[in-house]
Amino acid sequence: MTNEIRTAAPHVEEAVIERQRQLCETIEKELMQRGFSEENRPGYYIQTFGCQQNEADSERMAGLAWMMGYRPVSEPDAAQLILVNTCAIREHAEKKALSIIGGYKHVKEKNPDVVIGVGGCMVTQSHRADQLKNSYPYVNFSFDTGALHLLPELIYSALTGGRRQFVSSDTYAVAEGIPSHQEKPYKAWLSIMYGCNNFCSYCIVPYVRGRERSRAPEAILEEARRLIDGGAKDITLLGQNVNSYGRDIGSIDIAGLMRQICALPGDFRLRFMTSHPKDASDALIAAMAEEEKIVPHFHLPVQSGSDEILRRMNRKYTSGEYLSIIEKLKKSVPDVSLTSDIIVGFPGETDADFQATLDIISAVRYDAIFSFIYSPRKGTPAATMEGQVPKEISSRRFEQLLALQHDISRERNQRFVGRTVRALCEEVSKTDPDKMTARAASPRPIHFENNGVPIGEYCDLEIVSADTFSLYGKLINK
Ligand code: 5AD
Ligand code: SF4
Repeated sequence: MTNEIRTAAPHVEEAVIERQRQLCETIEKELMQRGFSEENRPGYYIQTFGCQQNEADSERMAGLAWMMGYRPVSEPDAAQLILVNTCAIREHAEKKALSIIGGYKHVKEKNPDVVIGVGGCMVTQSHRADQLKNSYPYVNFSFDTGALHLLPELIYSALTGGRRQFVSSDTYAVAEGIPSHQEKPYKAWLSIMYGCNNFCSYCIVPYVRGRERSRAPEAILEEARRLIDGGAKDITLLGQNVNSYGRDIGSIDIAGLMRQICALPGDFRLRFMTSHPKDASDALIAAMAEEEKIVPHFHLPVQSGSDEILRRMNRKYTSGEYLSIIEKLKKSVPDVSLTSDIIVGFPGETDADFQATLDIISAVRYDAIFSFIYSPRKGTPAATMEGQVPKEISSRRFEQLLALQHDISRERNQRFVGRTVRALCEEVSKTDPDKMTARAASPRPIHFENNGVPIGEYCDLEIVSADTFSLYGKLINK
């Protein structure tokens, strides 16, 4: 009854998904025949690069691996299946992935039976898939971002001596019904849409993730229910351009979807990322102001403060328009935490353009920013624009930007001192095993003494101090 699914996006046929499920069983049997057992499971190792969307995709790869009988191992040397989920957003990400994949040559030499597959944005570019095919002969297969659901087929073929495969899907159909295995069940990613239509002139994403496809609200709500039942306390709705959710469906938008999720019973919080300013609607701001479960944190990348650079970036707003959205947000959600992405050294960026970026940062006063030096991406319009900025200049500007933001972050974080906040205890602190790390509405981690709050539970913390990157708390109530 396909008409029950309210979405315009093409879907992978159920028969294809069912075949993958059956192949998972066949693979498990095959592995058991090769000497593995319930007690001695074959290991999988997934290396993830890039954004939260990739994290979510890796959880689906892990879900499929579990169905095939594999279990996670902490070292690639101990694995029978290695998957690399790559990123293409900047050159550095690609170089890192290629270097890691290069290192797996030795793993294959030691264990010729290991199956090695590479997925994600980097290999969705045909020149990178060709490079893997020609220069990395020990890689069994690659699969682009639209072919993740075919993983069982690819693994089965590799296990049974099939030819190397380099799959590129051209439909980018939405695949429902792929299991997901979460490392931290209390902190969940929930992809609500895929792809991007914006074609910002520097960005590779529209070329490697396809056009915007919204998942059906019914499928999202069902997944949200399952996540909450499984212990999810902090759910982040994901999409490359998450606030344009529903445009291809027509009858629902991001605000409506979030309100429906908030109405589900359960003690959880809801976040969303990443948003484009042109789609930061009044309805979304109102939902954030009114719904208690929506975390008052808006990640709204501005990219640059210069109108000329914004125009060349094809961002479709001016700095003035951006600032008026921020005004609205601050008015409607008084203690909102704001974060942004900034690109430094975009082609043609002058000192005055860069100053405009510093000015907008000072005007907004973000809690934090993620800043990047512009990296030319093959096939994007900006890569061939005139006025590529020399590295020394971008690096100098980058340092200047960080220094300004660090001052602002340090000051902004002080507003929490003396307040008691409800925070989710997420992990033992990475730097001090006697401390735990929790998170509240602010994007900053809160460190507090480990006095028995279970990981994955909420606790009340009084914030006693704050610096540039962290808050420090005292436990008030478990
Ligand atoms: N160079 C540098 N930064 C980039 N981003 C996207 N493409 C590039 C690029 N070619 C940044 C943008 C985006 C974030 C995820 O990565 O700021 O919001
Ligand atoms: Fe890239 Fe722009 Fe789409 Fe974001 S909105 S993914 S920066 S093209």
